[in-house]
Amino acid sequence: MQDDIKAVLYSEEQIQSKVKQLGEQLSEDFNGRNPLVICVLKGAFIFMADLVKAITVPLELDFMAVSSYGQSTKSSGVVKIIKDLDVSVEGRDVIIVEDIIDSGLTLSYLIDVLERRNAKTVTVVALFDKPARRTVDLEPDYKGFSLPDEFVVGYGLDFAEKYRNIPYIGILKPEVYEK
Ligand code: XMP
Ligand code: MG
Repeated sequence: MQDDIKAVLYSEEQIQSKVKQLGEQLSEDFNGRNPLVICVLKGAFIFMADLVKAITVPLELDFMAVSSYGQSTKSSGVVKIIKDLDVSVEGRDVIIVEDIIDSGLTLSYLIDVLERRNAKTVTVVALFDKPARRTVDLEPDYKGFSLPDEFVVGYGLDFAEKYRNIPYIGILKPEVYEK
């Protein structure tokens, strides 16, 4: 599996130390509050697990799964909710945990949904960001690393549902796509 990786962008150690820093920052900033932390499945599941262990304030968590509609409707930013939250966000300080921001459409849709459901505050934490690909005006409140415009896998991120269990983030060899 790891033979399919062309280059490692950030090592397991680099990611772990960044996630700890993000957790410490969030613990400070959410001191005295009881946030609802939402994991955007599937890609963010490993980040979510490591991040909440690094947060020291009491919190609750929930999961949401979304998928973009086909290419034709992509520019509208319409995203389909595959699995919705189990709990209400009304009056809650919500923290969205996302693996990677690309165009920004998924997140801007999610923020909109949560605001319409009367969340008190909506905060976005993204581990990875590809700022060059943004089509909507959206910046995460907390961010781990900026990435070049390349398709990456590992640390929860997949290609055709594989490679999520690689502990670092890397670029796939082109021949893997061509198979
Ligand atoms: P948008 O464009 O809505 O997309 O910001 C965010 C979602 O796209 C997926 N994505 C990737 N998944 N490697 C992946 O495995 C990548 O390089 C990549 N870039 C975007 C991801 O699911 C994210 O939630
Ligand atoms: Mg994905």
